[in-house]
Amino acid sequence: MQTLTLTQPDDWHLHVRTGDMLKTVINHTARQCARAIIMPNLQPPVTNVEQAQHYQQEIQQATDSQYDFTPLMVLYLTNETSPEDVKKAAESSFIHAFKLYPAGATTNSAQGVTNLPALFPTIAAMEKHDVPLLIHGEVTDAEIDIFDRERLFIETKLSLLQKHFPNLRIVLEHVTTKDAVDFVESASDKIAATITPQHLLYNRNAILVGGIKPHYYCLPILKRESHRLALVKAATSGNPKFFLGTDSAPHLSHLKENSCGCAGCYSAYATIELYAEAFEQAGALNKLEGFASFYGADFYRLPRNTRKITLEKTDWQVPDHYLVAEQQLTPLKAGETLHWKLQG
Ligand code: DOR
Ligand code: ZN
Repeated sequence: MQTLTLTQPDDWHLHVRTGDMLKTVINHTARQCARAIIMPNLQPPVTNVEQAQHYQQEIQQATDSQYDFTPLMVLYLTNETSPEDVKKAAESSFIHAFKLYPAGATTNSAQGVTNLPALFPTIAAMEKHDVPLLIHGEVTDAEIDIFDRERLFIETKLSLLQKHFPNLRIVLEHVTTKDAVDFVESASDKIAATITPQHLLYNRNAILVGGIKPHYYCLPILKRESHRLALVKAATSGNPKFFLGTDSAPHLSHLKENSCGCAGCYSAYATIELYAEAFEQAGALNKLEGFASFYGADFYRLPRNTRKITLEKTDWQVPDHYLVAEQQLTPLKAGETLHWKLQG
């Protein structure tokens, strides 16, 4: 049987929630990944070191003891985050970044940032203390077309940040456009990007052709095929600026199959298998290990993992749903066949 052995990956962009949802999804990730950057968009959000410590403990308690898994914590940037908050975060051993959500951009972003220039002293402190800034890169103006929101964020906001803070390490999260790929490629080595499995595997037809398919709805929204191709090219190029971040964002099935469905694809159940699918389609399985297991750790200045995982080339059927207490969680590719399977 064909196998593929890799250094164990990390997930550099993950939502795990709390309570019963956390108990289900964290073990899917911990089975695959050694570490994950944990998004702070809870309700209320994780805005200070103490809250992050409690959340980290809750995650550790929910993780099965058979796994050696480390949650890497992130603080949620609000209009009130001060330079002193940044200093405290930099001094802690377990906070690895701040996350910028423009207010209104996505799930639980209501307490996000409304006036970016007003936060420049706080962002200057991140640059000074060398704490990375992770960015949901979409403008939120009601009149801007949803398919243009990432490109306009880059043109109007990110370019400003880059100009004012040339030494700030930035991750442009879940890039979805050729515009984002071009920007990151031409920027300094302080600027990197994560890419999700859904944006490598699908274009916007997946959401809209043959009926509305809510399980493909996430933010930033899937774009047209030319953008998907640019993302595949970037991910499989071996350029260390692009690395794995699933943005796995679980919502109960009934909250997605809804007249106002939540944004987010649940992919953590098959993190590495989904990327293997995309890399194999591109004829680039030899580039998977760098993307999944090396470049993110290097960017965050953490040691690369030493454990190995092995994938087998064998078909398996994705469940129609997972259970969260008594309720259903529908995974990306529910009921479909995947062609690579993690051993063990
Ligand atoms: O689709 C998304 N879901 N995009 C985000 O930015 C947030 C996430 C969530 O938390 O559900
Ligand atoms: Zn996210």
